[in-house]
Amino acid sequence: MIEEAKKARLKAYVPYSKYPVGAAILLKDGTIIHGANIENASFGLSNCAERSALFSLLSQGYKKEDIVSMTVVADHNKPVSPCGACRQVMFELLPDNCEITLANLSGETKVMTKEALLPYGFKFEDTLNT
Ligand code: THU
Repeated sequence: MIEEAKKARLKAYVPYSKYPVGAAILLKDGTIIHGANIENASFGLSNCAERSALFSLLSQGYKKEDIVSMTVVADHNKPVSPCGACRQVMFELLPDNCEITLANLSGETKVMTKEALLPYGFKFEDTLNT
C-alpha cells in the first residue's frame, strides 16, 4: 500500500508548497482509492491528500464500512504527520480500529489508529448529550 500511496503522490498539484503527499485507501473488495494534495493560489482552499482520498471514496459511493486501511506518504525525514483538519475528518470517516500507516520515501513507517491520532476527538454524538 505504500507503493500505491506513492503513485497517488505523483498526482499532487502543489505549485506553492512543492510538497506532494499521497494517500491510498484499501477497501474490502480490493479496490484502492487514491488521494493527493491539491493546492490553490488562495492557500486556505488547499486540500490535503488524506481528505482528497476520503472525499473521493464517499463521492464514488463507498462507505466507512468498506475500508480496511489507509496509507499516507510524503518525502520527509520521518513518517508524514497528518494535519489537525485531516485528523478530525479521518476520525469521523474511517472505521474504528482502522490501520493507518504513515510513511516516508525512505520506507520508515508509523502505524496508528484514528483514536491515537486524535485523542478525545469531537463527534456528532457529543452535541446530543448537553
Ligand atoms: N499535506 C498533506 O496533504 N497531508 C499531510 O499529511 C501533511 C500536509 C499538504 C498540505 C499542503 O498542500 C502541503 O502538504 C504542505 O503543507
